[in-house]
Amino acid sequence: MEKITVATIREMKDLGERATMVAAYDYLMGRMADESGIDIILVGDSLANVVLGYDDTLSVTMDEMIHHTKAVSRGVKRALVVGDLPFMSYQASVEDAIKNAGRFLKEGHAEAVKVEGGCSMIEKIEAIIQSGIPVMGHLGLTPQWYHQFGGFKVRGKTESTARMILKDAQRLERVGVFSIVLECIPWQLAKLITEKVSVPTIGIGAGPYCDGQVLVLHDLLGMTPKTPKFVKRYAKLDETIVRALSEFRRDVKSNRFPALEHSYDMPREEMRKLLKEFRRRR
Ligand code: KIV
Repeated sequence: MEKITVATIREMKDLGERATMVAAYDYLMGRMADESGIDIILVGDSLANVVLGYDDTLSVTMDEMIHHTKAVSRGVKRALVVGDLPFMSYQASVEDAIKNAGRFLKEGHAEAVKVEGGCSMIEKIEAIIQSGIPVMGHLGLTPQWYHQFGGFKVRGKTESTARMILKDAQRLERVGVFSIVLECIPWQLAKLITEKVSVPTIGIGAGPYCDGQVLVLHDLLGMTPKTPKFVKRYAKLDETIVRALSEFRRDVKSNRFPALEHSYDMPREEMRKLLKEFRRRR
């Protein structure tokens, strides 16, 4: 089992090998994703909507992100663990950016961080990298920019916005990110960026020509109720889970569970002594 590092991810592009990444948020899912051979496990700020039930990703805090990153790291041996810097943990100052990125490594035991944004965030991204913390960039539909963009919309559909995203990608490459997530952009633009930058691109809703692909684990397992067009559901765990829970409920209500096979046995002799004791007391 060879440990995946940021160097491995960079090499994959040179070797023409696709990188795989999932967003996961706890020990069990982290462990299963690792066992399946997934290369990168991102503790995404999608934690906010997927498992914490917030309406958007803006509300999730650094402490919540660290708590879940610790849990994922405990389950992962081979994959690269990446922590996602949440909204307002890096935007306000270089100092915040370095300190909070550092918390992911020191407390969460992640091995890199992901930062949303291009040229406008470059000073912070560069400072994090200069502090010795590998950074994964994130361009296109960056959910922390939700209000600025006026909703979740495909980005880079016009020549001018496409140019901006390409420029952002080249800038991220220059400051030394080890990979770039491209979210919800036209496949033609994702292909162009992938050809133009030397660092691996990891697509989500960005078509088949990226160097790697990422999905939220709960989406691909079919556990989330509504998923965007770019998600492929590899299982229907929502149905399986609800079916299992209703069966459990039915079995308990009708005394079919637990049966003796699910129960612990007491040696006959001990039981006999116990009953004898009881009879004597009565
Ligand atoms: O938070 C997240 O899950 C992400 C991925 C979708 C890339 O940012």
